[in-house]
Amino acid sequence: MSGTNPAAALAEAAAAAARAPSVHNTQPWRWRVSPDGLDLYAERSRQLTATDPDGRMLTISCGAALHHARIALAAEGWVASVDLLPTKGDPDHLARITLAGRTDVTPAAMRLVQTIAVRYTDRRPTVDVPIPADAFEALRREAGTEHMGLHPLRTSGLAELAAAAAAANRIGVADLDQRAELAYWIGGERPSGAGVPDAAIPAQPPQTGVPERDFGHPGTLAVGTGHDAKATYAILFGRGDQPADWIRAGETLSAVWLLATELGIAVLPLSSVVEIPATRERLHHILSNLYIPYLVLRLGKADPDHAGAARTPRLGPEQTIERAG
Ligand SMILES: Cc1cc2nc3c(=O)[nH]c(=O)nc-3n(C[C@H](O)[C@H](O)[C@H](O)COP(=O)(O)O)c2cc1C
Repeated sequence: MSGTNPAAALAEAAAAAARAPSVHNTQPWRWRVSPDGLDLYAERSRQLTATDPDGRMLTISCGAALHHARIALAAEGWVASVDLLPTKGDPDHLARITLAGRTDVTPAAMRLVQTIAVRYTDRRPTVDVPIPADAFEALRREAGTEHMGLHPLRTSGLAELAAAAAAANRIGVADLDQRAELAYWIGGERPSGAGVPDAAIPAQPPQTGVPERDFGHPGTLAVGTGHDAKATYAILFGRGDQPADWIRAGETLSAVWLLATELGIAVLPLSSVVEIPATRERLHHILSNLYIPYLVLRLGKADPDHAGAARTPRLGPEQTIERAG
């Protein structure tokens, strides 16, 4: 609890952001806390340089952390003002949060900060019931408040996504550098506090219409006999393809994922189709060549029996937060 001390509140917000989702759980961010603001930097030493050479997924992950920090400040009664950068001459300086005063804490803000602790990625098949139409509309509206969209895929779009996801897996598996990156971050021996543990990776490929990311290695997560036939696949999209757009996409991902968690909807991001230029172009085409795809999301009714699944670890604050001065 930071009370009314701004610097303590900013440091706590940076700590709360640690639970944000990130590609391969790389947590590619660094916070700098000073008495008058909280600065967010991209941490290039944790970038997936083979899989994500442009830093799209890195920047989306940082955007999710930024949104988590904003949620934490709102739950402590702070009005936060956010400047999205990058700064000229310092492309890794992605955003700056300053405090503009105190406000009442709303029940919605309290709920959201609690949801941060329970949100996680579930790679098991979704249950055999579609998500309610009004829940999808609520998620779509949430994306809209951040000036992004969620485009649901049906019939031909879904078939095109399935083909693109399979192609992305083939391209990834054939690329030695990408395989080396997977071996570093996924399962087995990983950097302490980061990466995806075996317990979060399916023991066999789940039965899906759209293939999940091929991690190149079976985990220990039992997947059962379910099929994701009733899942909704949607593209998170927007208008621009610059780092500032990717940060906003990450903030939107966080907002949509937290709301989905509150609504009992499990979210699985599929990013390999966006990372690879040829398959990203196929998604662009599904969006009538008008919008930029940032991520594909699988949305499904969360299986109540899945509660208590293994959580991914996080780096210690000494690796992600520094204090100015
Ligand atoms: C930008 C981004 C891309 C991701 N891509 C994938 C993906 O392609 N496949 C997958 O299984 N998980 C993906 N994830 C989920 C991460 O692996 C997950 O957030 C991370 O391991 C932390 O685990 P948690 O979400 O359970 O806290 C992605 C997450 C983000 C933020």
